[in-house]
Amino acid sequence: MKIIIANWKLNSNKIKIKNYFKIWKKHNINNKLKIIIAPPIIYIPYIQKILKKYNIYNIKLCAQNIDFHTKGPYTGEISAKMLKDNNIKYVILGHSERKKWHYETNYNILKKIILSKKYNIKPIICIGENINEYINKKSLEICIQQLNYLVKKSNLNIFINTIIAYEPIWAIGTGQSANILHIKNIHKYIKKYLNNINPNNNTNTKVIYGGSINQYNIASIINNKYINGALIGKTSLDIQIFMQSIQKLN
Ligand code: PGA
Repeated sequence: MKIIIANWKLNSNKIKIKNYFKIWKKHNINNKLKIIIAPPIIYIPYIQKILKKYNIYNIKLCAQNIDFHTKGPYTGEISAKMLKDNNIKYVILGHSERKKWHYETNYNILKKIILSKKYNIKPIICIGENINEYINKKSLEICIQQLNYLVKKSNLNIFINTIIAYEPIWAIGTGQSANILHIKNIHKYIKKYLNNINPNNNTNTKVIYGGSINQYNIASIINNKYINGALIGKTSLDIQIFMQSIQKLN
């Protein structure tokens, strides 16, 4: 089963959302796909209502962030506990855009991962290298460093029941995805790493790719045994393109 996560980021509105799902319900979605949509959090109740109205049951909803506290005087934040309260089962954590624009630190990301797991929210943990690291052939080293940090500051079970998204920073929103061989290799090594740190318990850890996936490259990137799915930004916003994309998957 492939996992497809649509990350809408800071986009959409009620009219667009209604149209999106109006078109969605006319399509048959391959039941081998697990589809997860991460809209801006404020639209989740509206989307829940629309999904119910249109009898759409094959979509899970996801938050794009949580705070590293559970409650208290933290203006503007939402918590893992609140996601649970609203039946939201997934959250994207450590996205490079949050690191860039909101100065997110690895330590805070770790706290968020721990909190989300505590409340049974599955975290989608983003990792990936920048352009210089890529040019200097350090992609794998950087990914392993990022994973190792989380293990060292917590324990070997930190990745159980999580999704790891390999997202090269230079490929996000640029229209230039990483090449297939590179993506496959990184996924292979991440899986080997997970197996090494916890041979008995990593079967629940999925590894997916994100970065300029579109209707033309999705099949060649995702249709292979090393890659468990895709995190799709820009091209998930247009329902026609998104449909064309996911229909190319086995
Ligand atoms: P993109 O975004 O598909 O627009 O490159 C991916 C992501 O940020 O998750």
